Amino acid sequence: MSKKKVFLLGLGSVGRNLLSLMAKEEFNRTLGQKFILVGAADSKNIIFDERGFSAELVLESKKNKALESTGTALKKLPAPDDVDIFVDMSTASKDGIRELNIYSEYLKAGKSIVTSNKSPLANYWPEIMKLAGEGNGKILYESTVCGGLPLFNMVKSALPGMEILSFRGIVNLTANYILETMRKGGSKEDAIKNAIKEGFAETDYYDDVSGLDSARKTVIVANSLFGTQIRLKEQKFEGIDSNIEFHEKARKMLISSIKRTKNGVLTESRIEDVNGDDQFYSLKEKSMAYEISPRFRSPIFVSEDYDGPVETSMGVLSDIISLL
Ligand SMILES: NC(=O)c1ccc[n+]([C@@H]2O[C@H](COP(=O)([O-])OP(=O)(O)OC[C@H]3O[C@@H](n4cnc5c(N)ncnc54)[C@H](OP(=O)(O)O)[C@@H]3O)[C@@H](O)[C@H]2O)c1
Repeated sequence: MSKKKVFLLGLGSVGRNLLSLMAKEEFNRTLGQKFILVGAADSKNIIFDERGFSAELVLESKKNKALESTGTALKKLPAPDDVDIFVDMSTASKDGIRELNIYSEYLKAGKSIVTSNKSPLANYWPEIMKLAGEGNGKILYESTVCGGLPLFNMVKSALPGMEILSFRGIVNLTANYILETMRKGGSKEDAIKNAIKEGFAETDYYDDVSGLDSARKTVIVANSLFGTQIRLKEQKFEGIDSNIEFHEKARKMLISSIKRTKNGVLTESRIEDVNGDDQFYSLKEKSMAYEISPRFRSPIFVSEDYDGPVETSMGVLSDIISLL
């Protein structure tokens, strides 16, 4: 069987962690034999070599700011014929158009996409899924919501064909970390600085603070698990106001909620008071969590204490492995 040609776009916190995982010996001995890393790109450079790069070499070149002198430098992304799996770990664009154009080219040629970038799916879900449905290419997006906490792959493999009645989740770690820091008397600014330092804040942290990131994820969950065709521009959302008032005995949390009702699927992304009898109340300040209610069974609660770029890169890797 021929090896799959993998190309990586975005070599930031997530991209570099993915390269570290790919460089591990145990990975190379098994799955490493099934693909070749034909190229990578950041915002300034695109490198390509049809014979393949080692993950260590790309990682070292990026760290040493020497990407342009590694392999062949391209002026534009490689042609679809030269790639089988295109992995997008680039910064979310505001409108998703840059990414839509790239995904269209690869999907039309029957090539697959793995993405951790929410913007194209939140803005252009109908177009992207239509393209994926028409050809042989697939799009996998596990790490777009809740980073590395399994959601879409978990539902697909463990609850196949089940109708989901509701979803409630902490899908943006940064906003909830800021809210909890503020409740404990800390400043919003210090919490943001720490989130940037640890790598879990968005490049433009305004997306976290304004609630835009949580709204993007709400749209993706609704479209993926509830069969809607919502676009980000239709989704109302709330962000963190500096004058927010905290009530004694309650935590404030930015929560994404989706419910099937008689009038259709209702989606919300807003800040709620969470009381002690709510299982979200006892989550850690950097937790990610969701509760999902499938028809005919009790709700399922999934949580983790922390999710950052390492965990997200594992979500990306799990999608790549599914395609291999
Ligand atoms: N960090 C997380 O925990 C997390 C969790 C879930 C999802 N995500 C998503 O995953 C993606 C990557 O996150 P990250 O934390 O790794 O971000 P990051 O550290 O800011 O890295 C972003 C990467 O994208 C590159 N880039 C920016 N604009 C580009 C463009 N127009 N064309 C090509 N490359 C471009 C950057 O290039 P330079 O290196 O040249 O600046 C950088 O390599 C984002 O879409 C983010 O929303 C992240």
